[in-house]
Amino acid sequence: MNVLVEPLELEKEAISFERVPTKIYKDANEASKVVAHEIAQIIRRKNAQGKPAVLGLATGSTPKKVYAELIQLYKNGELSFENVITFNLDEYYPMQPDAIQSYHRFMKEQLFDHVNIAPENCHIPTGTLPLEKLPIFCKEYEAQIEELGGLDIQILGIGRNGHIGFNEPGSLVNSRTRLMTLDITTRMDATGDFGSLAKVPRRAVTMGIKAIMEAKRVVLLAFGEHKAQVIKEAIEGPVSEKIPASYLQGHHNVRFILDEASASELSSRKKPWLLEEVVWDKTMVKKAVTNLALSLDKPILKLTNRDYNENGLSDLLANYGQAYDINLQVFQNLQHTITGWPGGKSLASDANRPERAFPAQKRVLIFSPHPDDDIISMGGTFQRLVDQGHDVHVAYQTSGNIAVADDEALRFIDFMDDFNSTFEIDNKIYKTLFDEARTFLSKKKDSEIDIPAVRYVKGLIRQGEAKATCRFVGIPATNVHFLNMPFYETGAVQKNPIGEPDIQIVSDIISEIKPHQIFAAGDLADPHGTHKVCLDAIFEAIERLKKESFMNDCWVWLYRGAWAEWDIHEIEMAVPMSPTQVLQKRHGIFKHQSQKDGVVFQGSDSREFWQRAEDRNQATAELYNKLGFAEYAAIEAFVRYHF
Ligand code: F6R
Repeated sequence: MNVLVEPLELEKEAISFERVPTKIYKDANEASKVVAHEIAQIIRRKNAQGKPAVLGLATGSTPKKVYAELIQLYKNGELSFENVITFNLDEYYPMQPDAIQSYHRFMKEQLFDHVNIAPENCHIPTGTLPLEKLPIFCKEYEAQIEELGGLDIQILGIGRNGHIGFNEPGSLVNSRTRLMTLDITTRMDATGDFGSLAKVPRRAVTMGIKAIMEAKRVVLLAFGEHKAQVIKEAIEGPVSEKIPASYLQGHHNVRFILDEASASELSSRKKPWLLEEVVWDKTMVKKAVTNLALSLDKPILKLTNRDYNENGLSDLLANYGQAYDINLQVFQNLQHTITGWPGGKSLASDANRPERAFPAQKRVLIFSPHPDDDIISMGGTFQRLVDQGHDVHVAYQTSGNIAVADDEALRFIDFMDDFNSTFEIDNKIYKTLFDEARTFLSKKKDSEIDIPAVRYVKGLIRQGEAKATCRFVGIPATNVHFLNMPFYETGAVQKNPIGEPDIQIVSDIISEIKPHQIFAAGDLADPHGTHKVCLDAIFEAIERLKKESFMNDCWVWLYRGAWAEWDIHEIEMAVPMSPTQVLQKRHGIFKHQSQKDGVVFQGSDSREFWQRAEDRNQATAELYNKLGFAEYAAIEAFVRYHF
């Protein structure tokens, strides 16, 4: 276990802020493969000793790719599960094993049904036993693990509140397998699976911290920006019952496996100069200086040599000579990111502007993963591009149909009925479709997946809202494109993997418009992963098209919005907004009525989308202001993607 030390007291090589062994991989795919191969090795080693391998398994979105890789190894004939015994961490209570949200069902679908494991070797905490029988069940569950000589490896995910298994904040280090009341963050994060907060069970049966700590090996996986904060606390913070994952700092054989996004708040990423020699390129200098200014609460131009020396930046100072020179360089660089002309300013020099001046009128293609991301994340910039005379197109990548409430769908079906009967329109196709949808909705069970007719209605509702926004901003209907990418159309939170048709659709629209600018959501923290898939499709399409001559003139800008913002040092274009523009953007977001006043997927943030967008844009403006720049009401930020 690494020990936390004051960074300036020791040689750099000896310094680590991480109190637990940690390995960071480029992405979840790479990391999951490594973990799957470690599990495979354990199985082979135990089997070679003539013993079964005893695995502790987790559910949730995080370990899915590990299971997919294990299935692949089995299919390739490289691994057998004949002599494997598994114990899962938890199950909701109460929960029928065949319910969509059941962890019994999850494990069957994600692993057990696809490998040669004997059903009697798979153990999962009960969701069905009566309350009075639970204590005995829990005791026996632990006893079974002990009898087998303990868990050879325990796989863990981590909740945003730091839970492992369903050991919520407050769980003690010696807690046993038991019935646990779920924390509000956990329940909110599960609303996507259950349809609404009210339907999320209040309790779960979970393996205790003690059993997890007794595993011979523990591997905790965390992927995505939404885990970055808790990962920092679990790895660099004190051991505390407030973050149960921090108990793992005391485990003798543990490793945290992260992707770059979940590791992004760690000191090794935030302040790498404190830990190792860094190359002081422009980005690193900008990162260090903005970090220093913000942590000292000083504008950039007021930073002194002493500030640099006292905060681990003497190396940087040695490279540049004086604080004054570094300050000026970074200040000017940031100054040049600010522009009210996101499509370029044709009557001015573009030497110090983020975008080219020419062509003066650009063809712009905004990709919006869901039907409201364009306006939520870059509504101010969208409006400016239109007002400044560019030919702006929007491509809505998915239908967004799962986020429409049933009530809303019924309201529109009623409207259609009333409309048709008023004007005596008698259309059989429409009638059958809508009757089917209405009948289904009237009997719909909790979390039942919508039939295609209902999804169609819900998709149309969102399409109408997107059109209303485009009308409001002022682009013609011919510039509005609905791609309806097929990977999204499962009717459930769980989407299909990206496929060839998805990439083709994206590639076709780029080829058709031949844009000078593409704006895309680089928002990887979307908890349902849709933004990530949409971005992957765009990157892949660009990769295939990059040899086309029109691509030489195409610049790609990534925006963020509903879930996270770029770090200040990453921002390459900052588009300020006046109070009136902020209000105008808000009205544009209001066009998405199905996403207002209590949405299907509220997540753990109780604010409405327009509030989240405003808070974020204001926060970016405040950061610029703190660093010593003019005080704007709000700022939308972009990073350029070089292909
Ligand atoms: C699941 C479990 C939980 C999850 C955690 C993260 O068996 O015990 O601790 O690992 O809630 O969930 P995801 O991976 O969905 O973010």
